[in-house]
Amino acid sequence: PTLGKLEILKYTLVGVDKSGTIDFMKQDVHNEVQDIGVLSFYKQETKRTVSTSSIKVVDISNEQLKFFLPGFIDTHIHASQYPNLGVGLGCPLLEWLNEYTFPLESSFTENNREEKLAFAQDVYSKVVKKTLVCGTTCASYFATIDADTTRLLADLCLEAGQRAFVGKVCMDDNSVYPEYQEDYDTCVKSMEEVNSHIESINPKSEVLVKPIVTPRFAPVCSRKLLSYLGSLADEKNLPVQTHLSENTKEIELVRTLFPECKNYTSVYDDYHLLKDTTILAHSIHLDNDECNLIQKKGSTIAHCPMSNSFISSGESPVKKYLYKYNINVSLGTDVSGGFKPSILETVKHSILASQHLHMHTKHESFDPRLTVADTIYMATMGGATGVGLQNVVGSFAVGKKWDTQLIELDSSDSNIDIFGWNDRFLDGTKESVIKYYTNLLNIWVFTGDDRNCTKVWCNGRKVIDKSKQGAGMTAI
Ligand code: GUN
Ligand code: FE
Repeated sequence: PTLGKLEILKYTLVGVDKSGTIDFMKQDVHNEVQDIGVLSFYKQETKRTVSTSSIKVVDISNEQLKFFLPGFIDTHIHASQYPNLGVGLGCPLLEWLNEYTFPLESSFTENNREEKLAFAQDVYSKVVKKTLVCGTTCASYFATIDADTTRLLADLCLEAGQRAFVGKVCMDDNSVYPEYQEDYDTCVKSMEEVNSHIESINPKSEVLVKPIVTPRFAPVCSRKLLSYLGSLADEKNLPVQTHLSENTKEIELVRTLFPECKNYTSVYDDYHLLKDTTILAHSIHLDNDECNLIQKKGSTIAHCPMSNSFISSGESPVKKYLYKYNINVSLGTDVSGGFKPSILETVKHSILASQHLHMHTKHESFDPRLTVADTIYMATMGGATGVGLQNVVGSFAVGKKWDTQLIELDSSDSNIDIFGWNDRFLDGTKESVIKYYTNLLNIWVFTGDDRNCTKVWCNGRKVIDKSKQGAGMTAI
């Protein structure tokens, strides 16, 4: 819950009510629970008259290789680009968009409605399922410019039980790839249609899926469109997501397209698109003014290290953003700039990219290396803050929702060999437990994968249970 500091809740009993809200938490209950059992202890502590049969218990109190972690929040993922995973290595952004990305996204705008819906059904159901399997309980998706299939993505998130922000991509000025764009009026009309659909589909008791205003990035948006989207986000209090400062050629392009704006970041600010619920993907090459502006506006930078390496965009100095500028930073897979839909993979890449940055910037005063604690924060609380859900998800606390993954280092298909070597730390003291679980977390981060994420809950509802679903769900 705190940047740079792991919090390990030892032998903690957590009660979750029917609405998926955590309504009880108590630490260090191991002995009492062993004596009288979880249910009796829970009843005794809460003084509630609950029927035993209405309570489900997940007990890992005697399991030294399992732990719960808040669900991952992927704050930047293009659901529509899932079929392109692994394709386009080293192709710089603007060429990559034209060669790989716009042609794929155009498949979602086919005139034949049935064909495009069938394609979208296949792609979107797979990406929602796969991200859940990887422990992503909340995702902020870019879909495409197409309204029909973007509505379908929102329906599929809701059906699968994933918390999601779904953005119809807005772009009305794609001069380099004119086959993939809409005119201003069509764009506005179809976005309104999508947003009102999304607002209508949630059941009254729980809002799981929300719309998000999604100007793709400044180079493909007219001033009129940016202006409209900025006032819409203000009026309807909607979150915003876009791309910022990913590639040096892109930055030059923005400079020529918007000469009246001070810098790339201020293009968005000038159109009221920098809010405290704005997610700025990449944001690699920022100057001091831009960092200060983002900090002042309370916007979030979605760090996408896998993509930044894969399409050679650069190494983002996120440690500096976090600690020098106090900017909130979250993580994004950026599928398919990033080649895996997994935030655990993104955690690894963020740490390794920061090591590389350190190796060739040693003369600079700011040490850019990220710790595991920094990145787990970005993957959970940083993400929650980015999407405006810092009081709802991202950590374990009474009043928050149970959006959680169960990690088992010894899951049946685990790729991790266990040696028991770390058990020597467990000598009964609190420090030993912290040391032990810190090591466990590190082992999982660097050597684990989605096979170790065995159960996932969103809003208190179990949405993945690998013990029940068997093979076929695992090993990305
Ligand atoms: N900038 C504009 N569009 C995109 C996109 O689809 N992916 C990435 N990585 N950057 C972009
Ligand atoms: Fe992206």
